Amino acid sequence: MNIISTDTYKIRFKDEGYAHLNELVASNNYTNFYVLVDENTKKLCLTRFKEKASFKFEIIEIKSGEIHKNLDTCLDVWNHLTNKNADRNCLLINLGGGVITDMGGFIASTYKRGIDFVNIPTTLLSMVDASIGSKTGINLNSIKNQIGLFSDPLSVIVDTDYLKTLSKREINSGYAEIFKHSIISNSNFKKLVENPNLAYDEDIIASSIELKNKVVKKDKFENDVRKHLNFGHTIGHAVESLFMNKKNKLLHGEAIAIGMVCESYISCKINGLEIDKANEIKNHLNKFFNKVSFSKNDIDKICNLIKYDKKNHLNIPKFVLLKNLGLIETDVNVDVNLIADSFDYYTA
Ligand SMILES: NC(=O)c1ccc[n+]([C@@H]2O[C@H](COP(=O)([O-])OP(=O)(O)OC[C@H]3O[C@@H](n4cnc5c(N)ncnc54)[C@H](O)[C@@H]3O)[C@@H](O)[C@H]2O)c1
Ligand SMILES: [Zn+2]
Repeated sequence: MNIISTDTYKIRFKDEGYAHLNELVASNNYTNFYVLVDENTKKLCLTRFKEKASFKFEIIEIKSGEIHKNLDTCLDVWNHLTNKNADRNCLLINLGGGVITDMGGFIASTYKRGIDFVNIPTTLLSMVDASIGSKTGINLNSIKNQIGLFSDPLSVIVDTDYLKTLSKREINSGYAEIFKHSIISNSNFKKLVENPNLAYDEDIIASSIELKNKVVKKDKFENDVRKHLNFGHTIGHAVESLFMNKKNKLLHGEAIAIGMVCESYISCKINGLEIDKANEIKNHLNKFFNKVSFSKNDIDKICNLIKYDKKNHLNIPKFVLLKNLGLIETDVNVDVNLIADSFDYYTA
């Protein structure tokens, strides 16, 4: 597997990644090594990491889940590091999904004005999405990723062996981002549509990482082409927020899949996307995700969430839409009635 180079760090796969980490440890004057895990990655991923790491480390365990991606957890870890007399020359290794890598990156970047950190993403979503782009951060109350900074890991190791213990539901959630990368770049689209069993495929995973890398390299701070990565996310985030308060919460990729179907339909209506393409996107996603039902009240709430999003100007929602595969337009105004119509298309 090739090494993927971002502007500031490298993403290495499996043994190449561990070999580099072991070299790094041997050739630097690190004073101590800490591995951040949650209860799941402690149980399911740490054994493999221990087999591969040639050095001794201490484990720091936090509770899993988005609700713990907050300042309280950071305080616990900062206190832990302080009580252990961890100095500026220690290394933090984040072994887990996007919650661990985002929050671990934030904790490391702010502890003693910044210590080195390495990310080892263990979910499909964190491999293909959170491993690139240098975003670190935590949630504030219910506002996602409200506090954080762009900060580069020293390196990233992608080891698809960790996916063996991940639930099918979590795999599918990550796959939604793989499919999104293929839509916005018009790469691998046909291959994915014709083979719905490629979520674990290492080449597909590597190529999805490379696609996001290309976009981020052009526009790290999201002024321009990085916005393309938000395809499916305007409606997707609103759907995710709505279900946050329901019993049956949706995973990020599950909500984004709905967003991509709806936004493909909107792309047909106002941006010239062919309906056949939208249907192809919808039919493919239907193979991975069960249909979610939306009441009229749900759709009203989703439209309001989108309309009154603080990022809008004069309450006009701005969308990232397709003209075709790989041909994207950003900041497109969309009427809320069309958003409601798109849910009829999703449901049909
Ligand atoms: N920095 C970025 O650019 C970026 C991009 C996308 C998402 N994110 C962030 O990532 C987070 C979502 O990431 P996620 O989907 O990985 O969620 P997550 O970190 O909550 O992981 C999902 C669940 O899987 C468990 N898990 C992790 N690895 C496992 C394994 N190998 N086997 C079994 N279980 C395992 C976790 O303990 C957790 O319960 C969000 O907070 C989101 O904001 C960041
Ligand atoms: Zn996403």
